[in-house]
Amino acid sequence: MKAVGFTRSLPVADPQSLIDFDAPLPVATGTDLLVEVRAVSVNPVDYRVRRDMGPANLGTRILGYDAAGVVTAVGSDCTLFKPGDEVWYAGELTRQGSNSQFHLVDERIVGPKPVSLDWADAAALPLTFITAWEGLHEQLRVRRDGSDAGKTLMILGGAGGVGSILTQLARNVGIKVIATASRRASIAQCQRVGADLVIDHTGDIKAQLAAAGHKSVDLIFSCAELDGYFQLATELLSPFGGLCTIVAPNKPVDLGLFKIKALRYSHEFMFTRSMFRMPDMIEQHRLLKAGAAMFDAGTLQGTRSATLGPINAANLRAAHVQLESTHTLGKLVLEGWG
Ligand SMILES: NC(=O)c1ccc[n+]([C@@H]2O[C@H](COP(=O)([O-])OP(=O)(O)OC[C@H]3O[C@@H](n4cnc5c(N)ncnc54)[C@H](OP(=O)(O)O)[C@@H]3O)[C@@H](O)[C@H]2O)c1
Repeated sequence: MKAVGFTRSLPVADPQSLIDFDAPLPVATGTDLLVEVRAVSVNPVDYRVRRDMGPANLGTRILGYDAAGVVTAVGSDCTLFKPGDEVWYAGELTRQGSNSQFHLVDERIVGPKPVSLDWADAAALPLTFITAWEGLHEQLRVRRDGSDAGKTLMILGGAGGVGSILTQLARNVGIKVIATASRRASIAQCQRVGADLVIDHTGDIKAQLAAAGHKSVDLIFSCAELDGYFQLATELLSPFGGLCTIVAPNKPVDLGLFKIKALRYSHEFMFTRSMFRMPDMIEQHRLLKAGAAMFDAGTLQGTRSATLGPINAANLRAAHVQLESTHTLGKLVLEGWG
């Protein structure tokens, strides 16, 4: 089968940084599904693994987490899916990825694809959707029944893949969203997905909030390097507020600053459940299923900003170049094989 992978960490400008190669067809056992991949999307984790983690002991390592496709075979312990089912999922960090024509994935982290989304729009979403959902409802503990309506959430980096779906999930349960964006196009993206207020993260955030009548915010979700924002978060959060980051700080942070206001600090990492084989890893099946119903009901809109062509090494390198700029809007997708 066709696959795209790498054997050593190289800058993306090097044609060997991602290569097309033939891989053996995998066989589904246990709780694994074998999925024929129709479309994938690319996330910052793809370039971070290519650049920083290397191929480990996987030989030619295949990247790719987000995928949408059709189940072609199931392991003997599978109960959730059957051949022919259309699925979407974000995969696991420590296994071979979805940039291959056929891919093995544990059914407990797979959901039924929304019927209203085509392959490309579906592939754009799972990783960011899971991240936003777990960060919002599990880490920041925003309730899904609307009883937190009226609280304010500031999203640092609102126009990217995670921010674009998080804004919608938060708005749907009545949260007021203040998104940050630094460029005309990213401001427009935040507005398109429903942010109540957009402020510029390259300017004075506190002054812009004050000018808009906000002395404090209840919750902060950081989709950006936290280091430059940690002190600001301690000043802006209201008592009993919460900060969730999806990007690890590069330097130690002083959690003592969180004491006086009794603030909460949490880190969302969407691979934790599968990486540690947590007993509740089936939660990701459930939340992807709930998400599919929300898209089919029209309460969420897709976040794909571009399709870069079929799945091959050249197009994946182009996606990595865009993502490494850290100024991507929404999600980049590749569809079909060629
Ligand atoms: N822990 C997890 O499970 C998890 C899951 C998904 C992603 N992540 C990480 O979270 C980050 C965001 O992911 P993503 O998919 O949303 O990435 P993305 O799509 O590449 O995000 C791009 C956005 O980041 C904004 N941005 C860039 N620098 C910023 C800064 N200094 N302050 C605020 N915003 C800034 C840009 O806004 P402007 O262009 O307007 O400047 C742009 O809209 C990545 O580092 C990714 O690795 C972690």
